Amino acid sequence: MAQFINFAHRGASAYCPENTMAAFRKALELGATGIETDVQRTADGRLVLIHDESLARTTGDERLVQQVNAEDLAQLDAGSWFDPSFANERVPALEELLELGRQHQLVLNLELKNGIVPYPGMEAEVIRAVRSFDMSQQVIISSFNHYSLALCKVLAPDIRTGVLYMEGLYQPWNYANTVGADSLHAFKYAILPEWVEEAAAQGIAYHPFTVNDEAEMERLLSYGVSGIITDYPDRLREVLSRKGASAT
Ligand code: G3P
Ligand code: MG
Repeated sequence: MAQFINFAHRGASAYCPENTMAAFRKALELGATGIETDVQRTADGRLVLIHDESLARTTGDERLVQQVNAEDLAQLDAGSWFDPSFANERVPALEELLELGRQHQLVLNLELKNGIVPYPGMEAEVIRAVRSFDMSQQVIISSFNHYSLALCKVLAPDIRTGVLYMEGLYQPWNYANTVGADSLHAFKYAILPEWVEEAAAQGIAYHPFTVNDEAEMERLLSYGVSGIITDYPDRLREVLSRKGASAT
């Protein structure tokens, strides 16, 4: 069985401003083996890591990401909203995380945020960037936009994709097969243990989000999920080590 993945959601976002290099480095320090992040695109076509379509919440700028050039974006403070000590943090470019991921053999879950702003052509651009860092085997592309996932699979059959969803889908492993996806990135309450088993029988992994409570982590681990997406990779590391200890 593939190695279990401890995904830090937007980096170690409980401790650092989400989707910043500080949050990604902190995730590594806390034992994450994967990083989940959100990809949007600037006016001049730079792929950048930020959750919202708007810059307002995390930088204070009222514009949308798609209205700002990369050079102007680089001036914005993406850390002070969280704590003044992070004032030097910027909205990272995708390439910065690909470099970190390559250095540390991390699994990178790149969530394409093309459900509200469609960002035509984003799929091919992300795939090109991933390939330029030779990271095809270490990346999972996910999205709530499932047409986009189907397109990614056509463009790059060797790069894993994950279906993001909130609902109790009927036989989601069949749906994953329909869009050619490799994993189910289900909201944490949209999972039953027998579904994890059925999916695994078809080679489909479960990576539920966003799981911050240790009892919930234990519950999902007991179902046999292949990875968990959490704001607290340190808690998950702790739960995994307790589980490992009790298994020996
Ligand atoms: O990829 C899991 C999770 O990040 C999806 O929701 O809104 O946190 O990007 P959101
Ligand atoms: Mg996300």
